[in-house]
Amino acid sequence: MADLNELSEKLNAIKAEIKGELDRLENSKSVFEYKKAVFDSKTGKVGSLMREMGKIPNEMKAEYGKRVNEIKTWAQGLFDEMDERFKKEEMRIRYESEKLDVTMPPVRSRQGYLHPNTLVKNQIVDIFGSMGFEIFEGTEIETDYYNFTALNTPDDHPARDMQDTFYLSDKFLLRTQTSAGQIHVMEEKKPPIKIISPGKVFRSDDDATHSPMFSQMEGLVVDKGITLCDLKGMLDVFVQKIFGEDTRTRLRPSYFPFTEPSVEVDVSCFQCHGKGCKLCKGTGWIEVLGAGVVNRKVLEGCGIDSDVYSGFAFGIGIERIAMLKYGINNIKLLFESDLRVLDQIRE
Ligand code: DAH
Repeated sequence: MADLNELSEKLNAIKAEIKGELDRLENSKSVFEYKKAVFDSKTGKVGSLMREMGKIPNEMKAEYGKRVNEIKTWAQGLFDEMDERFKKEEMRIRYESEKLDVTMPPVRSRQGYLHPNTLVKNQIVDIFGSMGFEIFEGTEIETDYYNFTALNTPDDHPARDMQDTFYLSDKFLLRTQTSAGQIHVMEEKKPPIKIISPGKVFRSDDDATHSPMFSQMEGLVVDKGITLCDLKGMLDVFVQKIFGEDTRTRLRPSYFPFTEPSVEVDVSCFQCHGKGCKLCKGTGWIEVLGAGVVNRKVLEGCGIDSDVYSGFAFGIGIERIAMLKYGINNIKLLFESDLRVLDQIRE
């Protein structure tokens, strides 16, 4: 460097170049990067000035150092000011985009709830659970033996016609009744037995009150000295809990091959309280389930001594209870998942 004029020219050129570049910088990140490049001690326009000190004549060194520091301070100030301006603007944009409108109404999320069938099933399980019943889960595919033969319904028995069966083969079928579970339980366990068995059953049957697939809840109690009175007492508790405190039961003689005697159980109409209405078809009573004293033949077939033990059994149609309880007049409504219907049923 020959003299100070030359130095001034050089520094002015650097300043002009930096100023010229400023328009290109459009955010705090580009300011940071450009500043880094300018101040780089090896390659930067300003950063590398100090390296040249060696080539400067001694008498000029002090002035050179002073001017380099000045340009450093100038550039530093310039970048700081730009950085602050960009950061402010960037924060403003960010706040704007993240702004919350606390007065906006919330987007309501629909909450799921239990299907009427599940509600009724859970209620029945709770009621019998509180009376000490255990749950046995059977299988939907059964053999002809468990579904019919062992339940005192041999091949040529007319009671088979009561249930139109979906056969899978000569031996296997879709169970038509959860009663099949009774046999499995009695084969596996010795009395005292006290179980309920919920599950899907299948019959070739289809109208407003019947569906090819529906759900039942089987009940079975086997012990010494069990009678029809025990059945009646237990059913009274059950219907009062499901339909209301003042509900009563009435047993009518019926026929099922696996019970003797067999009964059809009616409950006093919980809508008109016995006076007679549309629901009970003017009779004051509604049929709710089948039951009876376990047929000796069934006990013996499972290796239970029928001179020592006796039992009762019952079979509840879950959809039937749900339809009665929630005023549903077509069983299909329970399988169509139409929210306009299901939304009306909450517990
Ligand atoms: N399994 C019978 C049906 O599906 C219902 C039934 C009746 C079950 C009497 C029983 C019973 O356990 O004792 O129609």
